[in-house]
Amino acid sequence: MNTKTATQARHWQTDGDSNLSPGRAAWDRGRVSAETRARLDEDARYFLHQSLSTPCLGVIAKAEGIWIEDTDGRRYMDFHGNNVHHIGYGHPRLKAAIKAQLDDLPFAPRRFTDAPAIALAAKLAGISPGPLSKVLFATGGSDAIEIAIKLARAKTGRYKTVSFWDSFHGAGFAASSVGGEDTFRSGPIGPLMAGAEHVAPFACYRCPYGYDDVDGKPDLDVCSMTCAAYLGYVLEKEGDVAAVIAEPVRSIPYLPPPGFWQSVRRACDDLGVLLIFDEIPLGLGKTGRMFACEHSGVVPDILVLGKPLGGGVMPISAVVAGPELDIAGDWAFGHYTHEKNPVSCAAALTTIEIIEDEGLVENARAQGAHALARLEEMKSRHRLIGDVRGLGLLLGVELVADPETKAPAPEAADAVMYRCLDMGLNFKTTLGNVLTLTPPLIIARGDMDRALDILERAITEVEGGL
Ligand SMILES: Cc1ncc(COP(=O)(O)O)c(C=O)c1O
Repeated sequence: MNTKTATQARHWQTDGDSNLSPGRAAWDRGRVSAETRARLDEDARYFLHQSLSTPCLGVIAKAEGIWIEDTDGRRYMDFHGNNVHHIGYGHPRLKAAIKAQLDDLPFAPRRFTDAPAIALAAKLAGISPGPLSKVLFATGGSDAIEIAIKLARAKTGRYKTVSFWDSFHGAGFAASSVGGEDTFRSGPIGPLMAGAEHVAPFACYRCPYGYDDVDGKPDLDVCSMTCAAYLGYVLEKEGDVAAVIAEPVRSIPYLPPPGFWQSVRRACDDLGVLLIFDEIPLGLGKTGRMFACEHSGVVPDILVLGKPLGGGVMPISAVVAGPELDIAGDWAFGHYTHEKNPVSCAAALTTIEIIEDEGLVENARAQGAHALARLEEMKSRHRLIGDVRGLGLLLGVELVADPETKAPAPEAADAVMYRCLDMGLNFKTTLGNVLTLTPPLIIARGDMDRALDILERAITEVEGGL
């Protein structure tokens, strides 16, 4: 493989499938009408190109409930949705709330607050775990991560962070620095934020420390949770770390070994390090609990929310911290133009109310458990499936060339993904070979089963060489 091809291969095996993969190159043939092709060409003409967006795959004309529809009339169940669509696209109650708020008050400039912003702050304080009760709002996850880092610096007087390789925390400079992905850190990007240290993450099926798993689970008697111990060791050796930043459940997905976060929390407490949990994609119910950290029994010092908070319509993110972090009243590290945008805040408040009133967290738990059981069954029928794992409606199917060697099968994953798209199911691949399914929390059993039938058909076809 020459260097350029090797770099491209690395880049399409990242946080999300990119537009550089073989399946993507073949997708256009016979599938895109002349009108859509013209729009795609226009998009590619005006947008700067980058591997995770432009050139694009299609043009979306409608998004409703669990469905997206393109300009050629193809409909897809959206099991990706960038994780913004917890309540489904275009929820009528959300649209009504946004319209009413637009009529009532469209914006509040700096130095003023407004009722929806206060109500959202109070709501987040009410539902967040433990003492987390002081907020700042921004428009995107990456910005919110950077606010959290600044808060940790302000509180501790230190600047270093420890985070996981292979993580994603956003595309800004600080967020890319704490992230652990090549696509966002390498090449022309240049020097990143000083002090952004990384450790290998928990990943029991492919333990970076070389321990064998038992059917995807850790053998704690053997590994003694080296991943947590090493993180503690790094914190101790560095001695001046401001914060550990991580997703409590990795979006890939990977679940932490039992006790992992308790161990890290203890190490943080012993060494005066803050714990920042990034729940931007998975908070607000995706994992079957309102917050993913509730599975771990650990309360972070700072919780970061985003994506679904705006109901899949408004861009809004939030940092939620304990009152002890309200220590920088004379600085301004989180004032953004749309910090207290009443329309975004009304959308976020209504989104949380919809999640609560419609029992969507419970639905995520129930449908997720059903899907996971079906995926386990599927694994017993397909050698291509090396591992399945998940929590709530975060589901992962890891494709391998051989279940014994666990050699990743990124080409097969790419082929399965595009075959599923052909049959009306949209999801993404992560790290090249993990089919990552994140349906909205409103998903019904029938649609879940239909989607899993499509997935199994695609896997069967790809295993059979199509
Ligand atoms: C775990 C995680 N953190 C942060 C972000 C960044 O959010 P945004 O794209 O809104 O900046 C993402 C986005 O995919 C994410 O998945």
